[in-house]
Amino acid sequence: MRNARQHSYPDRRETNREVHHGTNDQGTKEGKVIEVLNKARGMELYAIIQYMNQHYNLDNSDYGDMAAKVKLIAIDEMRHAEMFAERIKELGGEPTIEPVGKPEKGQNARTIFSFDAKLEDDTIDAYNQFLLVCRDNGDSTSVKTFEAIIDEEQIHFNYFDNVHEHIEKLGDTYLAQIAGTPSTTVCRRKASLPGKALPVHKAVREIVVDRSFATTSVLPVRSQQKWVPAVP
Ligand SMILES: [Fe+2]
Ligand SMILES: [Fe+2]
Repeated sequence: MRNARQHSYPDRRETNREVHHGTNDQGTKEGKVIEVLNKARGMELYAIIQYMNQHYNLDNSDYGDMAAKVKLIAIDEMRHAEMFAERIKELGGEPTIEPVGKPEKGQNARTIFSFDAKLEDDTIDAYNQFLLVCRDNGDSTSVKTFEAIIDEEQIHFNYFDNVHEHIEKLGDTYLAQIAGTPSTTVCRRKASLPGKALPVHKAVREIVVDRSFATTSVLPVRSQQKWVPAVP
């Protein structure tokens, strides 16, 4: 469950920052919903960049397992950003392309997880407020979008907070267990499907997305399915 401790995140992810709203009037019900959807999208874009950078740092430090999981979470955030964008488009707005803040550089295993736990915690707080705006303006579809994404942010928070606590309690002993673990990515590519001998230049690649950690069990997503792309 979500930790009850209070965070004082430095900039609260600048959730009140101005964002693009497309052609919608902010005074209309749709305009108000688009405004919070765009704030949320900007937060997702920030998280994507931040987590990708952390993933590279963890991989460089040879904490492969951590790197792989942070990468999976970054991919979750990409999906969230798309979900918000799709809803914004449905409402006639323009999805922002601006992250809400400037990501931190040079973080390491000892700083990443407490930082990310706070980030997810603040995100949950903000999205609960945004959800209320959607409800007040009669947009049950956007309410459901926020509810589903909040559930996933909760899972992210739990992971980051658990790792942070392990590092706090066990320090180098815990980190030594992670060092040298593989940073296997989520996508495995096969040269061809079993039983189908094809010329190399027409080889069918099967991409299997292993979502064992990421939270797609909560939401049906296209990337969860096996698919065979067309090969030119
Ligand atoms: Fe997210
Ligand atoms: Fe998240």
